[in-house]
Amino acid sequence: MRRKIVAGNWKMNTTVAEGVDLAKSLVAKIKEVPSDVNLIIAPPFTHLVSVAQVISGSKIALSAQNCADEIKGAYTGEVSVSMLKSAGCAYTILGHSERREYYGETSSKLVKKIKLALNEGVMPIFCVGEKLEERNAGKHFVIIGAQLSEVLFELTPEEMAHVVIAYEPVWAIGTGVTATSEQAQEIHAFIRKEIAGRFGDSIANDTSILYGGSCKPSNAKELFACKDIDGGLIGGAALKADDFIAIAQSY
Ligand code: PGA
Repeated sequence: MRRKIVAGNWKMNTTVAEGVDLAKSLVAKIKEVPSDVNLIIAPPFTHLVSVAQVISGSKIALSAQNCADEIKGAYTGEVSVSMLKSAGCAYTILGHSERREYYGETSSKLVKKIKLALNEGVMPIFCVGEKLEERNAGKHFVIIGAQLSEVLFELTPEEMAHVVIAYEPVWAIGTGVTATSEQAQEIHAFIRKEIAGRFGDSIANDTSILYGGSCKPSNAKELFACKDIDGGLIGGAALKADDFIAIAQSY
């Protein structure tokens, strides 16, 4: 069954104490969110254990923002999927455009990371999205098609059944410029069609595809009303409990 998901990507924001406070505020407001909306928060690595304690017993799930592409060992500075799982993560964001752009995240690394995550029972939230110049050149379908085929088409159907996809146009992330609901729906439908072509209609129809990029309380309702938009991956607005909850209430 395709699930409604609203996930907050905190990126490199908040101290541990601030993150714990934010999580506490969310737990206090969770009853305002419709029961069929799955709330996920993705704090920085340093916050995971503390935040896990705060949200334990609530319906908020924990996600990381990245994971290592190796299982364990001499990889200074890296955090493995089994560490994430032991810290309480049910999800990890993978392939965010900021990681692709600033940290050299490649498709081949992402295939490894996704398979490692799935192997541990941690669900990847796999991000795709085109840059402004790519959209202006009319290449957005080609770019997103390649991002999907280079990574997700390497998975087995069983693996694909546990992946959440996030469409995040790079030009909309943190810019205040949101994709129109028509632009977003068009790409989401395309993504679902591509997944159906490779894995069949059943898996495609069951895959949650989230929109990300300047999603806020004022535009979430229109975006989430689209047929192929199953929720949002929220950056800036996830740092304010009231805004994040208001977005989740938009369903
Ligand atoms: P934004 O970020 O909501 O601040 O645009 C979204 C994201 O990068 O996941």
